[in-house]
Amino acid sequence: MTTQGYLSTKPIPARERLILALDVASLEEGKRWVDRLGDSVQFYKLGLQFLMTGQYFEMIDWLASQGKKVFADIKFFDVPETVRLAVEQLQRRRVDFATVHGNDAMLEAAVSAKGNLKILAVTVLTSLDRGDLDDLGFQCDPEELVLSRARRALKLGCDGVISSGLEAARLRGELGANFLVVSPGIRPVENRPSDDQKRTVDVADAFLGGADYIVVGRPIRQAPDPRAKAEEMQATIAGIFRG
Ligand code: C5P
Repeated sequence: MTTQGYLSTKPIPARERLILALDVASLEEGKRWVDRLGDSVQFYKLGLQFLMTGQYFEMIDWLASQGKKVFADIKFFDVPETVRLAVEQLQRRRVDFATVHGNDAMLEAAVSAKGNLKILAVTVLTSLDRGDLDDLGFQCDPEELVLSRARRALKLGCDGVISSGLEAARLRGELGANFLVVSPGIRPVENRPSDDQKRTVDVADAFLGGADYIVVGRPIRQAPDPRAKAEEMQATIAGIFRG
């Protein structure tokens, strides 16, 4: 499934390819993590838990002042005009990526207001497997759904997609190299899959399959030495992109 041919050739600094999911409960805790991880992480994702701290935008500004890149993972899903207005507000902030989890009209609305912000379409959450999709009323395989959602998102002008590393190679094979693939659900072989993530791959397989970025949360935050774990992943990434 994974072939060297799908390795990303986009001019992305290797150390920015690891995105840390900062799923924590307060601004102070978030800053402590960033200080603790130091140079081992250059790109941070702020999701729903961080939004609920009430200090989401303070954290965005602080991360930017530290020279870090920011991914706002709020998964916008609403009537198109509301999505458009939300993206319009967000693109004024120092944010690099944002997510939209919607149908064509929602994606189109987000793209129309994105400015320099990159819009990533959520395809199928990495915590969902075939059985979960059945429960939601989708009679299809996760891979087929990822592919059809990605195809539409790119046609509508999204900059890329969020997809499991399991589907990255198929996306590259069918849709080409000219869009971003950001892959969460990264699990090192040793702790796979003891939590809610179901469609998981390890760091190397995600990139060899064609991911441009990976999103990692718990495998780093819950490691005995998180900075060492992040550096270990950075070394893997450096090795892959060096040679
Ligand atoms: O802790 P873990 O490594 O599972 O963190 C993955 C992060 O990526 C979480 O913040 C989760 O919200 C996010 N995410 C995901 N699957 C998607 C989109 C985002 O797991 N399709």
